[in-house]
Amino acid sequence: MFPSLLLRWYKKHARTLPWRGHHDAYAVWVSEIMLQQTRVEAVIPYFERWMDRFPSVRALAEASEQDVLNLWEGLGYYSRARNLHKAARVIMDEFGGQLPRSVEALRKLPGIGRYTAAAIASMAFGLDEPTLDGNIRRVYARIFNVDVPADSTAGEKLLWQIAAENLPRGKAGDYNQALMDLGAMVCLPKNPRCESCPLKIHCTAFQLGVQESRPILKPKAEIPHHINAAAILVGRIGNPPIHAVLLNQRPSRGLLGGMWEFPSGQIQIAPAKSLPKILKESYSLNIRVSEELMVVHHAYTHFRVTVHAFRCELLSKSKNEFLKWVKLSELDDYPMGKVDRQIAQKIKHQLESQSSTLGKSRVRK
Ligand code: ADE
Repeated sequence: MFPSLLLRWYKKHARTLPWRGHHDAYAVWVSEIMLQQTRVEAVIPYFERWMDRFPSVRALAEASEQDVLNLWEGLGYYSRARNLHKAARVIMDEFGGQLPRSVEALRKLPGIGRYTAAAIASMAFGLDEPTLDGNIRRVYARIFNVDVPADSTAGEKLLWQIAAENLPRGKAGDYNQALMDLGAMVCLPKNPRCESCPLKIHCTAFQLGVQESRPILKPKAEIPHHINAAAILVGRIGNPPIHAVLLNQRPSRGLLGGMWEFPSGQIQIAPAKSLPKILKESYSLNIRVSEELMVVHHAYTHFRVTVHAFRCELLSKSKNEFLKWVKLSELDDYPMGKVDRQIAQKIKHQLESQSSTLGKSRVRK
């Protein structure tokens, strides 16, 4: 049967990954959360840095949210980091620092769903739990030629049933990872390498020549495109006074929750013209726009955004408690999404090169 063929293939071809081999449930959990919607190659350096900085549930539970988000910066989907942090605190309080050993208890922790609970239970605890991620879905949809959309309720139900029925007892951890590796290296979304697939004689889609059109997915809604404008307000703080920029901390829930950003808003018409009104309404800030610094494009999962970033002047003091003057030299300690990090790098560069030219001309005088 194909599970034993697959396990034999895995023995020879398994990828060497830093979270494999050591049966530390904490490491498995962290890796599984990082790997959601993120490629293995992108995760590896983050995983290694994370395990150095937070080597245990206790170390994570005792960290500040700002440190946690900072280490996650660039991986995206920041609620994953906030949930890991929250769950670490629950595991310390309720389970003495050890991850609970059942899917039911794991699923009650923040950020752990059906897939992750089963992945941890099978890989870290050797429990007979089937699981289903994007790669496994594709492999099963092809082997069993699933012709209902894999992302429909009926498709999901069928695929979980297939996963449960084919699980080899006592080997679930390796088996689940073998399916993932096969999906990542052989059973690719486009141009699958069927000729070198150990399961080709069992693959109904391959026999029928329909592997490229499996899995079937529901038609995707069009992705909206938003236009935003952001204000870069530069001031001086401290003694001696040094350059700082005004940042806003986003609410802890939702997109980029808890992260820092330049005050901004979505606009419908000319960005420079709309910005003062938006900042007045959303932040009670009175500003005047000076010049455009840059335009940044970014694609999130459910929308794309173009951000016009403007140097602005502050016309009266801000009283908004979520806004903070942050020194240029400390900007890296404030976790930001990709758009705001690009703006922060650019303004830092600009101000630093301005002060060094000023410094030089002073010296020349
Ligand atoms: N994707 C999610 N978890 C994985 C794992 N343990 N090995 C390979 N790919 C994965």
